[in-house]
Amino acid sequence: MSQTWDANLYEKSHSFVWAYGRDLVGMLHPDAGDRILDVGCGTGNLTAEIGAQCGAIVGADSSEAMIAQARLNFPNLRFEVRDARRLGFDAEFDAVFSNAALHWVKDAQMAADSMSRALKPGGRLIVEFGGKGNVAAIVEAVNRALTSVGIADPERLNPWYFPSVDEYTAVLEQAGLRVSYAALFDRWTPLEGGLVDWIRQFCGMFLAPLGEEQAPEFWAKVTEYAAPTLQRGGAWNADYRRLRVAATKH
Ligand code: BEZ
Repeated sequence: MSQTWDANLYEKSHSFVWAYGRDLVGMLHPDAGDRILDVGCGTGNLTAEIGAQCGAIVGADSSEAMIAQARLNFPNLRFEVRDARRLGFDAEFDAVFSNAALHWVKDAQMAADSMSRALKPGGRLIVEFGGKGNVAAIVEAVNRALTSVGIADPERLNPWYFPSVDEYTAVLEQAGLRVSYAALFDRWTPLEGGLVDWIRQFCGMFLAPLGEEQAPEFWAKVTEYAAPTLQRGGAWNADYRRLRVAATKH
């Protein structure tokens, strides 16, 4: 099973994803002549911002719903349904960019190999995604609430890859990339749509075994367990922790 995406809910409640990503575009320094690949482009908002600063841009995402919405949003740009593990590009890009997507790809080595293959020699990789400890308080509350309604070993349902700096540096070097910058940092993030909305949007794989009769108790428990850490002044926050990396293809 894989995560399914509601592109409308994503656009309505999660615009902070590309708002924070703007800072990462600053690290990319797009050049007027660059050909750039945006991996995990979602509904295309950052793709369009990068595209306005470079020669050519391609947005790739494994979700057909996201790519359909991206094409509607930006009909003049090129968007393709492609899996990060099998991008299928060969030495075509001056830079590969990815914001808030690679934590969905558990086979990180395949994704790194595929992104490296897409780069020209000397091309740069600029990525940011959830790092070690990301959303730990949310995961703990979800696991506890699932266990309390009778779902055994919920951690087996966890779909995410949140590596440390050392772990991900080794993955990129194995893929033929030289890491020039890597940082893991906290980003406490206000959730405009609230915690329940965030869990509905992103925790589909955790929630798959939840029966209708268990749901009311699950939602009551998850908010009760998460509140002491994640609720401030009545507003919900996510305990994001980002891993940001810059690397160059040998
Ligand atoms: C993140 O951006 O860190 C993230 C988003 C959704 C699910 C898990 C992590």
